[in-house]
Amino acid sequence: MPLKKFNVRVQAVVYQTADIKSYELVEPQGAALPEFSAGAHIDVHLQNGLIRQFSLCGSSLDRHVYKIGVLKEKSGTGGSEFVHENVHVGQMLEISEPKQMFKLNAQADRHLLIAGGIGVTPILAMLHTLEREQSDYVFHYCTRAAENTAFLSDIEALVKHGEVHMHFDGGNPAEGLDLRATLKRHAEGTHLYCCGPVGMMEAVKSASDHWPSGTVHFEYFSETSPSGDDDQQILADREFQIQLSSTGEMMTVPADMSIVEVLRANGVFVDTSCEEGYCGTCLTRYLSGEPEHRDEVLDEEDHEDYVLICCARSYSDVLVLDL
Ligand code: FES
Repeated sequence: MPLKKFNVRVQAVVYQTADIKSYELVEPQGAALPEFSAGAHIDVHLQNGLIRQFSLCGSSLDRHVYKIGVLKEKSGTGGSEFVHENVHVGQMLEISEPKQMFKLNAQADRHLLIAGGIGVTPILAMLHTLEREQSDYVFHYCTRAAENTAFLSDIEALVKHGEVHMHFDGGNPAEGLDLRATLKRHAEGTHLYCCGPVGMMEAVKSASDHWPSGTVHFEYFSETSPSGDDDQQILADREFQIQLSSTGEMMTVPADMSIVEVLRANGVFVDTSCEEGYCGTCLTRYLSGEPEHRDEVLDEEDHEDYVLICCARSYSDVLVLDL
């Protein structure tokens, strides 16, 4: 299911902190942009060939502007630095339509949101929705210090109904939010959403491992991939076959190649970005077979129809892809 791509114009660039800028993107003729729901992200196709994902942080009701926040990561793979240095007001950018992999659970009685640093961006969009719906929620925002904290004034202006707790740790996580204490008890009907640095998300994952299945949601946002701790990842990879539904063509995926690599080697090109199972760019529908999912972003319901082909393998001998 390739995502539609289109051009937008950069309408505004604002320094949120010394190393975080926010960007407003509009349709060049002023038309409405594709709709999205809180937690969605877009792919930005940079002029240097990189594709990077950025969460939409504005209100999902505003169809005339997409807002994103970008932290300049000096230790990253260059995408955020490129954006900071080369994306200016008035410039055109190619982006994808929004992709939703971090949605608010509509059945939840209450929501617990934890953001670390630039991980606030999808949570900010969620605050818009939760405030509008007058939902029961608590938001913990963890940063180093007030001067490193993006979107503070937006949050102060927005939050009327929910509870917000700021945690400034001065660079020492032990001085910040006590995750073990916060997540010790799971109140029935509560869903947890977390986005931030990988280390923080691993700590949240560990502190919430007793929460019921399906109630904890993560958005992997960093340019660094999460460390895999899934038992499936220690299984020895084995060979299997894929079939393209459009042509019936069969291809062998050897133990040391990914589905994406095999497709490329056979002249079939699909968009990818992280190639490690956390951005969702390579999302593909499958029609039959039993994938061995190895991603960090899709939930059980998504896995019934979709597979991230940069990292998935197959339990069945043949996996039929909707390509
Ligand atoms: S390319 Fe990022 S999940 Fe596959």
